[in-house]
Amino acid sequence: MNQPILQAEHIQMTYQKGSDMSQAVLKDLSLTVAPGEFLTIMGPSGSGKSTLLNILSTLMKPTAGDVTINGRDILNMNDKDMANFRNHDMGFIFQNYNLIESLSVAENIGLPLNLQKVPTKLTRERVQKVSALLNIQDLLKKYPAQLSGGQQQRVGAARALVHEPALIFGDEPTGALDSQNAREMMQYLMQINQEKLISILMVTHDAFSASFASRILFLTDGEISGELIRGAKSREAFYQEILQALGNFDE
Ligand SMILES: Nc1ncnc2c1ncn2[C@@H]1O[C@H](COP(=O)(O)OP(=O)(O)OP(=O)(O)O)[C@@H](O)[C@H]1O
Ligand SMILES: [Mg+2]
Repeated sequence: MNQPILQAEHIQMTYQKGSDMSQAVLKDLSLTVAPGEFLTIMGPSGSGKSTLLNILSTLMKPTAGDVTINGRDILNMNDKDMANFRNHDMGFIFQNYNLIESLSVAENIGLPLNLQKVPTKLTRERVQKVSALLNIQDLLKKYPAQLSGGQQQRVGAARALVHEPALIFGDEPTGALDSQNAREMMQYLMQINQEKLISILMVTHDAFSASFASRILFLTDGEISGELIRGAKSREAFYQEILQALGNFDE
């Protein structure tokens, strides 16, 4: 097998709450993402999805465990290497968008290229291209405060994709979108996954969004409790299978 794009081993996470009120949110969790894979993690609210994604995407350090991305031990990198690595190899689409208020939409989207010192002309071209795909080309001159939640989320997605990273992380990337926009966002993620072989690791509680993935891991109380693989099934058939699996979990 090819080297995994991401490998997490024996991850534990405990948030300290006072002296002895600590709570284990993740319990000895291991997973791998294969190159070109579209993996979705599902689970109820509070099951630890965001905690796990924040750890895997280098935004938070676990209490114990190892994380390797593209063969690099990300928990023991210095700050400069880490910043470089994030700028080149990773894209993030998060629940709360994290757009910079003082920058225009075009500047927000172009930020990862700017940080890589890509020439202005090339940056402008890439920003145009990704904006057209996400249907936000009319918003480029606006500022985040002038946009709806769904528009901000698409701008956040454009910024995550503009530098065509090896791996994209998404925390509820369709969370603020209506069903039509959610479908478009997922189709776009599926397209870049299939055409550009960009790996995707996404977290959602939404079965429809999850049905675009190639594999689903279910998280319950900080542990992996199940797995579904899309295989040759259609998205619609996979969606039905996910709904059924969720039904079984409720019982
Ligand atoms: N910064 C924090 N400090 C203390 N506890 C936290 C912190 N962040 C999360 N938790 C706790 O960890 C558990 C898992 O939270 P997490 O945000 O990872 O869940 P989630 O599966 O993403 O939920 P949701 O679907 O609601 O986004 C919850 O019990 C939560 O209260
Ligand atoms: Mg969450």
